Amino acid sequence: MLDVDRLLGELTLPEKAALTSGSSFWYTTPVQRLGIPRVMVSDGPHGLRAQPGEGDHVGLGGSVPATCFPTASAIASAWNPDLLRRIGQALAQEARAINLSVILGPGINMKRSPLCGRNFEYFSEDPFLAGELAVGIVDGIQSRGVGTSVKHYAANNQETDRLRVDVRADERTLREIYLPAFERVVKATQPWTVMCAYNKVNGTSCSENTWLLTTVLREEWGYSGLVVSDWGAVYHRVAALLAGLDLEMPPALGRSPQAVVAAVEAGKVPAEVLDARVRTVLELVAKGMPVLELDESFDADEHHALAREAAGESIVLLRNDGVLPLAADARIAVVGEFARTPRFQGTGSSQVNPTRVDALLDELRAVHGEVPFAAGYGIGSTADDSALRAEAERVAGAADTVVMVIGLPAADESEGFDRTHLDLPANQLSALRAVAAVNPDVVVVLVNGSTVVLGDVTPHARALVEAWLGGQAAGGAIADVLTGAVNPSGRLAETVPHRLEDNSSYLNFPGDPQVVRYGEGVFIGYRGYDKCHQDVAFPFGYGLSYTSFELSGLRVATRGSVAGGDLGATVTVTVTNTGALDGAEVVQVYVQDVQSSVARPVRELKGFAKVSVPAGGSRQVTIELDQRAFAFWSTRHHDWVVEAGDFTIAVGPHSRDLPLTETVTVEAPSLAAPLDRDSTLQEWMNDPLGRQLVESEVKNGQPAAVLDDELVDVIGTMPMSTLANFTGMSLDHDALDRITDAWREQTHAR
Ligand code: BGC
Repeated sequence: MLDVDRLLGELTLPEKAALTSGSSFWYTTPVQRLGIPRVMVSDGPHGLRAQPGEGDHVGLGGSVPATCFPTASAIASAWNPDLLRRIGQALAQEARAINLSVILGPGINMKRSPLCGRNFEYFSEDPFLAGELAVGIVDGIQSRGVGTSVKHYAANNQETDRLRVDVRADERTLREIYLPAFERVVKATQPWTVMCAYNKVNGTSCSENTWLLTTVLREEWGYSGLVVSDWGAVYHRVAALLAGLDLEMPPALGRSPQAVVAAVEAGKVPAEVLDARVRTVLELVAKGMPVLELDESFDADEHHALAREAAGESIVLLRNDGVLPLAADARIAVVGEFARTPRFQGTGSSQVNPTRVDALLDELRAVHGEVPFAAGYGIGSTADDSALRAEAERVAGAADTVVMVIGLPAADESEGFDRTHLDLPANQLSALRAVAAVNPDVVVVLVNGSTVVLGDVTPHARALVEAWLGGQAAGGAIADVLTGAVNPSGRLAETVPHRLEDNSSYLNFPGDPQVVRYGEGVFIGYRGYDKCHQDVAFPFGYGLSYTSFELSGLRVATRGSVAGGDLGATVTVTVTNTGALDGAEVVQVYVQDVQSSVARPVRELKGFAKVSVPAGGSRQVTIELDQRAFAFWSTRHHDWVVEAGDFTIAVGPHSRDLPLTETVTVEAPSLAAPLDRDSTLQEWMNDPLGRQLVESEVKNGQPAAVLDDELVDVIGTMPMSTLANFTGMSLDHDALDRITDAWREQTHAR
């Protein structure tokens, strides 16, 4: 163990400064004379990408073999924090086996636009879902003595110009959409580290953003761990240190430590500030040290099996006219290069060197015997397409059912750049059309990290299976779903729109040079489609099963009060499996503020539960809502507020199928602004005391026009101070002073 207090007294200024940067690409700085070792950090998030030793100095070269679990897009579709907890424990075991102290993940940024190149590394377009899933995986990893880094804090929602872009978003949008997943995971799990993003937020780089790193993260949310920079996100070391950034990675050796020493000597950085940052670094090293002593291993087969289970649970069945599950004796053919050459993870810093990779073709052959196969299209190259298509037609024509795998090539989506469209490659779509023309019994399997539009696919698909980038065991997992060994239970964690243009960020993505305005505010994802009454291809939360479920008996019991800060509700519902197969349903609870003084989403996910129910069985589910489930961020009160009135609690299998609703009426203190001389006539008339005071002035001889309802409609939006200049139709200035004083006195007296 490190005695942090003693060490702080013994470290020299240069040693302290050195500790606030790493010593190399993946290591913290050791101080040998005081017995402070270096600890290692490495990517993340869905498998380890670790280069023990000195690595290749840019960090992208070959890494030690590790299990590649499903990417975030995929695993989010499982809607199962417990599954993430188990994956987290497995990841931690792999980290322990190589003496790795901190895994750089999970990535919990919001999918503001389906175009973001890194969406495969992020969970969802919904902050509540992302937050719950983050809690699962962080808990799982940290329960085994290994640290995490929740990233990228904050508002890192595009790859275009990601190091320089200035995200302009109003505070309500940040508080309601871009920060809550971080807030949830920080408060619930105290991740060992939080990784600050590359971009700027409202003019200031995240690494120098005192509001983000200190005010919100530490002071409001009570974060006690370490803030590490994204790799290269420190632009001014001293400013970052002052703002709350503890550890710069990778280190700007020869520059940053010297700059910190000089700033302390010049009095620009108080010694206590440096000490606070060093303390955090030492505390991280102390937590990471036990891992250095371990001599452990992991069971690659067991982890592969978990990866397969997880990938199976992540698959979303989008359409099925009964062709799935495949009959055991069906004569099937497989078409699509991706069935033979799997695409199962994304490119960039999250790229894992897998322990092994299962191909769908092999897995189907293991069940169905020697299944005929045709590539159908080339990945990347389209040179041989007509020959490949002809072969695919031949193979498809001779089968009962065709399993056709299409998706996005690695070159189409990656860390480092954004997509410019949501289309699947044209050569794959022509292959699909050709196959469907000779054999209409087509099951389409999609492999893609981020959403694609499906208008050209769905008409040719008797069944449509969204398999995402499901990790190294995805081939087996897809086979499990196709054959019925696994009953699909995935639900979309992001909407599939008909067109890119329907997405609310469309007008402002990726923005202008070096700046992007989040003009859609809180209305991202389904919040945008719902508000604009857009039809969508497949809604948020959607997914089919081989069995059927019925929800019944909704009960909502509220407790506590807004005034007491402890409003809550217990939502109870019964799930019945009305089909012939065991299966799992995801019960989703959405909250809607029926009437609000600010523009609010039509509905917001505030609770969910995944429940397994045997065929013919029923299970009762209880989901808790807290006060935040009803609140919005008030820019005027600078706080979360709940407005009095009716709220609809809507429960169902997805965001656009909510058969059970109950309305609860919430009492809450008034949020109206205090009345003053600049309040409008309407505001005065809407306030009971205000109206009474105006009426008494009219009795005292002020013009009665001010009470004329028709006139109030016309002039009601004018401030009283302006109206007071209009003699004959309004109160004069003296009367206005009198009622303003009286209102203030009487409301204070209350
Ligand atoms: C990525 C991070 C990653 C880091 C280290 C950065 O470019 O944005 O997600 O953890 O590199 O590889």
